[in-house]
Order: sequence, then C-alpha cells, then structure tokens
Amino acid sequence: MQGKIVMVTGASAGIGKITAQELARRGAHVVMVARSRERGEEALAEIQKATGSHQLDLLLADLSSQESIRQLAAEFRNRYSHLHVLVNNAGAFFMKRQESVDRLEMTFALNHLGYFMLTNLLLDVVKASTPARIVNVSSMAHQQGRLDFTNLQNKKSYRGFQVYAQSKLANLLFTYELARRSEGSGVTVNALHPGFVTSNFAKNNGAAARLVMNLAGWLRVGRTPEQGAETSIYLASSPEVAGVTGRYFIDKNAVHSSKASYNESDARQLWQISEQLTGLEKG
Ligand SMILES: NC(=O)c1ccc[n+]([C@@H]2O[C@H](COP(=O)([O-])OP(=O)(O)OC[C@H]3O[C@@H](n4cnc5c(N)ncnc54)[C@H](OP(=O)(O)O)[C@@H]3O)[C@@H](O)[C@H]2O)c1
Repeated sequence: MQGKIVMVTGASAGIGKITAQELARRGAHVVMVARSRERGEEALAEIQKATGSHQLDLLLADLSSQESIRQLAAEFRNRYSHLHVLVNNAGAFFMKRQESVDRLEMTFALNHLGYFMLTNLLLDVVKASTPARIVNVSSMAHQQGRLDFTNLQNKKSYRGFQVYAQSKLANLLFTYELARRSEGSGVTVNALHPGFVTSNFAKNNGAAARLVMNLAGWLRVGRTPEQGAETSIYLASSPEVAGVTGRYFIDKNAVHSSKASYNESDARQLWQISEQLTGLEKG
C-alpha cells in the first residue's frame, strides 16, 4: 500500500479504526474520518503508536449531515490530489426514530446517503487515481431489508432493525449500481459483511443495549474488531481482488447477497432518489 492514499470513515472506533490501523501498517497514507475530534485524535495516536506510521491524518465530519459531507469532500480535495481507496464504514443502528439535521430519518441519512454522497463527491478524484477501490461495509442484516419507496423515511412506522436492514440493503444496491456505472474505469466497487462484531455498535441505544454488547464482548460471543476488519482490509488492499468489482464478500469470499439486492430497477430508482435528496442531481 506504499504510495496509496486511503480514506476510512468511522475510523475512531471498532472495525473502521482497525481497518485504518492495518492499512497504515501496510504503508498506506491513511486519512481517518471521525465526527469527534477527541475520539479521532485518540484513535490516531493509538494507531501511530501501534504501527509507527506518520502518514496519518484526521478529518472531521458528521456523516449524517449533508453540509458536513460537502465540507469533508472539499477539505479532502484541497489537501490531496488522489484517493486510491475509499472505505465507507461509518454506520449505526437506531432503536428509536431520529432525524438528521437535514430532517431525514437518521439511519437512511447516515448509513446510505452518507456512503452515496461522500462517494459521489469524491468520485472524480478516485477515477483520477486508478487502479482504485471503493469498499462499502454492509451487513448480512440486508437479507431482512425491504426497500419501500413509498416509506423510505419510515415516518408511518419505525422498527429499528427493519430500518437498519433496509439501509444495509441500500448499501448493496448502491455498490452494484456504482460498479455497473464504473465499468471499464479502473475503479472497483465491492461490499462486505464483517460478521457480528463486539464494537461500540448499537451502544448508542441506552443502557440495556450497552449491557448486551458489553456482555457479548466479555463472553466472546461474536468477533473482535480485529477479526471484523479482515474483509475490509482484504478488499482495500489484496492483489487477489484487483479488478474484482460488483461483489459481496463474507470472510474474504465472494458470496451471493439477497435477491432484492440484485434488483437493477430498484438500484436505479434508489440512485435517482438519493441524488434528489442530496442535491447531487444539480451537480
Ligand atoms: N458490529 C457489527 O456486528 C456489525 C455487523 C454488520 C455490519 N456492521 C457495520 O460495520 C460498520 C462499522 O460498525 P462498527 O461495528 O465498527 O461500529 P462502531 O464501533 O460503533 O463504529 C462506528 C464508527 O462510525 C462512526 N460514526 C457513527 N455515526 C457517525 C456520524 N454521524 N458521522 C461520522 N461518523 C459516525 C463512529 O464514530 P464515534 O466513535 O464518534 O461514535 C465510529 O467511528 C457499520 O457500517 C455497521 O453497520 C457492523
């Protein structure tokens, strides 16, 4: 990864932090994206200590906010001329319905529109850095996802897991559509499921959720963030997947995702709606 510039979102914790660390260890110049300066700086210092790398930068952004994503993309463009690998990883689960500053349902705003918008705002830089890779962290939960275009904001009913599953299905529809649109460009686009990982995931949902996740960690149910990051690192860096695009991976193996995730007409419609919701159709 020497000479490669890599951006990892959600690099302050969990899978993203380990992904950033291991790509830095392999020689990449890693741009870590975090929403909190304090947690971001702490993670950067930890990674520096673990790897000895000095090619680490921190950019701050709330990836549920469209203005913040635009600022992040602008700042990145000011500072770097290339982006060889973009790892869209920052995501969360919200038990109760919340809205982003743009008045959009939070899970959809962060987990799907965050990936969609940041990628599109940096796509020309990625295309100027070929061979380049985009890696989207999805989830096996996508299998329970149903995309209801009449209720994308889930205002009528809100079931946290269902809405999370929908956002992870959207990650796959986006991955496959972007791979089709990027064919022949030298940019590959793949998605993955990291496994059940005892990270900070879901701990934003109150004391009971924190207890369950902490218990899972103590009892070693599930994977460590180190194990959970393996497929992200593989897709971002391994020569074995150079040129592989439009695929979904579990444990470093390309596998099939749900039938719904291959629906090309849904993928196009989601793309169009996402462009409208983010103002990207205006350029
Ligand atoms: N854990 C699992 O079992 C599991 C399973 C399948 C898929 N996944 C997926 O894996 C990805 C990483 O999850 P994880 O397990 O590593 O969770 P995590 O430990 O909670 O880490 C999530 C990262 O995303 C960041 N983030 C959250 N909201 C953000 C926002 N509004 N703006 C910017 N950054 C934000 C967090 O920042 P802070 O440090 O500031 O909170 C953190 O760095 C997610 O996309 C998740 O859906 C996880």
